[in-house]
Amino acid sequence: MSRHTLLTPDVVEPLLRGGFGRPYLWSESCPSTQDVLRGARLPEGAVALTEHQTAGRGRAGRVWEDVAGKALLLSVLLRPPPGSPAQQLSLVAGLAVAEALEERRDAAGIKWPNDVLLAGRKVAGVLLEASEGVVVCGIGANVSQGEDELPAGTPLRAGSLLAVTGNAPDRAELLATLLEILEHRYRAWCRAGLAPLLDELEARNWLRGRRVWVGDAAGIAGPIAPDGRLSVERDGGSIVLVGSGEVSGVRLDPDT
Ligand code: BTN
Repeated sequence: MSRHTLLTPDVVEPLLRGGFGRPYLWSESCPSTQDVLRGARLPEGAVALTEHQTAGRGRAGRVWEDVAGKALLLSVLLRPPPGSPAQQLSLVAGLAVAEALEERRDAAGIKWPNDVLLAGRKVAGVLLEASEGVVVCGIGANVSQGEDELPAGTPLRAGSLLAVTGNAPDRAELLATLLEILEHRYRAWCRAGLAPLLDELEARNWLRGRRVWVGDAAGIAGPIAPDGRLSVERDGGSIVLVGSGEVSGVRLDPDT
């Protein structure tokens, strides 16, 4: 990694346009940025970012792989209002990532509840970890990995901005844009829940119309409900609403 590619505080802090990213905790390597913030006595909006994780975590116990200096690997500390449905924050963060990518690219898709896609390939994911009123919102986005540097055999084909679009944005600019949009979307959610975000989410609802499995029943994914659950019309016509916290969840039909 050459010096100028690092997202050190002297590079990133002058680009910040809001409260998120203050403080900004940078490291060249760490096990997981989630653990940097977990249990830390830091204000809302604190960000931990690293160039490389040695034990990066994805959802459902999966590993999140990276190539040093070629991704955005960050966690944001949030203190949502007491009693609020914090699991909705994966949609809030997914929307913010999609919108940040769209500042320079074509429309991004959100694969409910936490994946962000470009051209049908997963370029980013969100991981929420909550305890004692604090949510650590982890975001991993593949920026400049080449095709041969992306994980193979993932449930959804992995991509990076470079691999999908042919060029990669400046990571520092992308990070500053993401934090600005995330703060804006998060504040709106704190005030009014998902309602002000639903149209934007639905416009990017990549699963809609696709054949999925819920538990052992197949169906067609429908719109995202006002409470953030995904509606699925099962074969036979009944509608079920699936919550992102459910273990069985929704999985894509392998034949789709
Ligand atoms: C997923 O799609 O399964 C979620 C991936 C989340 C990865 C990010 S990278 C920064 C933060 N630290 C981690 O260990 N995981 C999240």
